[in-house]
Amino acid sequence: MAHERSHPVDAAAIRIRGWADVTYFVPDVRAARDFVSQLTGRAPLLDEVNLCQFAVGDGRLTLHRADPQGPAGVAGQVAYWRLGEVDALATAIEWFETRGGHRYRGPMTGPDGWTVCQVRDPFGNAWGFLAPAPVDVRGAQAEDRPWLADLWRRAWGGETQEYQGTHHHVTQVDALVAWRGEARVGAATFVVAGRTAELVTLNADPRGQGIGSRLLARWEQDMAARGVTRLTLTTTNDNLDALALYQRRGYRLVRLNPEAVMRARIQKPSIPLTGEHGIPLRDELVLAKHLGGAEA
Ligand SMILES: CC(C)(COP(=O)(O)OP(=O)(O)OC[C@H]1O[C@@H](n2cnc3c(N)ncnc32)[C@H](O)[C@@H]1OP(=O)(O)O)[C@@H](O)C(=O)NCCC(=O)NCCS
Repeated sequence: MAHERSHPVDAAAIRIRGWADVTYFVPDVRAARDFVSQLTGRAPLLDEVNLCQFAVGDGRLTLHRADPQGPAGVAGQVAYWRLGEVDALATAIEWFETRGGHRYRGPMTGPDGWTVCQVRDPFGNAWGFLAPAPVDVRGAQAEDRPWLADLWRRAWGGETQEYQGTHHHVTQVDALVAWRGEARVGAATFVVAGRTAELVTLNADPRGQGIGSRLLARWEQDMAARGVTRLTLTTTNDNLDALALYQRRGYRLVRLNPEAVMRARIQKPSIPLTGEHGIPLRDELVLAKHLGGAEA
């Protein structure tokens, strides 16, 4: 029943800013805490007998002791967690199944190309998972070249790359292209000299769906098969996401070239002054990884 009010309530003032927390009501917070801790690889932010909280993605996951107002189980709403890549879904299902959970609904592909699936945990809750569509990586063919040149123009402001005082033209690099169905969704370009291979560019579009990781993994595999022992790449001081990605995959920082981007800008004025995260674009960082387990 609506309450009588003397003044109108302005919904525009509410301004919902997105979701902040997903709460699962569970009969046993301790057991659920261990389950979620193993699933996310994280320790809880808050760990109390009846309430436990984890940081997950951009938000928070809370485990709350089930009570009459919030019983365990599913009552219509399901939170869907986004997975980094499609293969992770099969792993997630198996992980739940080996811990007393089960696949409940799906997987199926939605009209947006994402694969959706619900699994139940051993406490009766539903976990929705959304996984991006699969990606196939292939060596670049002649017919990929115009697209690649266009990608460089859009992503890198031209058909050349200038760094470490060297110059690469898009027509002179090897490339791997990522495909999703009939669409090209990313590329890695590189040059090989003897036993060293250099990653010239890595792009994913859309970002955050495992395409960059897939391209990098395939590049490393191909390079190992060609007898390459040292992988190297140059990134810039603003590119914190790329720095995280490479370092998590075993690349180590081997050199800092202060103000090198400012010098490259003389050759290529289209290099912007400000890069990712609003950071001034100034310096180059060189990373390297040895294949075969040796030190970089
Ligand atoms: C860098 C780039 C190629 C990465 O490709 P991607 O497909 O977006 O990356 P992935 O989805 O494979 O994710 C890689 C990692 O970044 C994380 N990540 C992806 N998007 C993220 C985001 N928006 N916020 C935080 N982390 C994110 C993923 O969780 C993943 O983490 P992991 O290392 O623990 O697995 C892509 O972001 C891109 O095209 N950037 C612009 C071009 C560029 O800067 N290239 C690098 C030049 S050296």
